Amino acid sequence: MSDITCHPLFDRIVDDLAVRGWSRQDLFLPADQTRELAAECRERYRRGELVPAAIGRGAGQQVQEGIRGDRIQWLEPGQSAVGDRYLALMDGLRQTLNQSLYLGLADFECHFACYPPGAFYRRHLDRFRDDDRRTVTALVYLNEDWQPEHGGALRLYLEEGGAERSKDILPVGGSLVVFMSADLPHEVLPASRERLSLTGWFRRRGAF
Ligand code: OGA
Ligand code: MN
Repeated sequence: MSDITCHPLFDRIVDDLAVRGWSRQDLFLPADQTRELAAECRERYRRGELVPAAIGRGAGQQVQEGIRGDRIQWLEPGQSAVGDRYLALMDGLRQTLNQSLYLGLADFECHFACYPPGAFYRRHLDRFRDDDRRTVTALVYLNEDWQPEHGGALRLYLEEGGAERSKDILPVGGSLVVFMSADLPHEVLPASRERLSLTGWFRRRGAF
């Protein structure tokens, strides 16, 4: 049996998810790993591998820049050492969430995302109408030295005591945001500079 990759913040993430359905951890990835992942994302972008993201899935997929303007490419196992290290870490988080919260998460899929200056992603939920496998969203940001005046916040729409309250989270390099995909509406606000991330989903098995 192989060892689970662990992280000192996993317990806090579990507690946050259990209590309020979302978690944010500022110092999740070490700086060198964040830098290497950012370099890989930029290199893929330079090679023209990132493509305009679509909304929906299967035959219903369409690119609509009035809804989302990011460009993406999936991270697959075996593409790079730093990518594999990240996937191993997220698999550790998957197993921890299963052990603690019995979520029955079967796999993790993630893509690099680059939002050019001015690009945004309008308010949405991360669950498709015809596919309910996406269960927990996990984002890590890859931006060095992000400042509030750069904009580009992830805006969460939280429900508190029957009222909605928005919470803005800056895409600071090395930080992690995790939330229940079906429950938390969110959007990406436009930024004045390029905004890089790895966006992923822990999925349950489908009912096929
Ligand atoms: C998404 C998304 C948020 C972010 O890709 O579905 O909501 O902060 N991304 O990049
Ligand atoms: Mn989303």
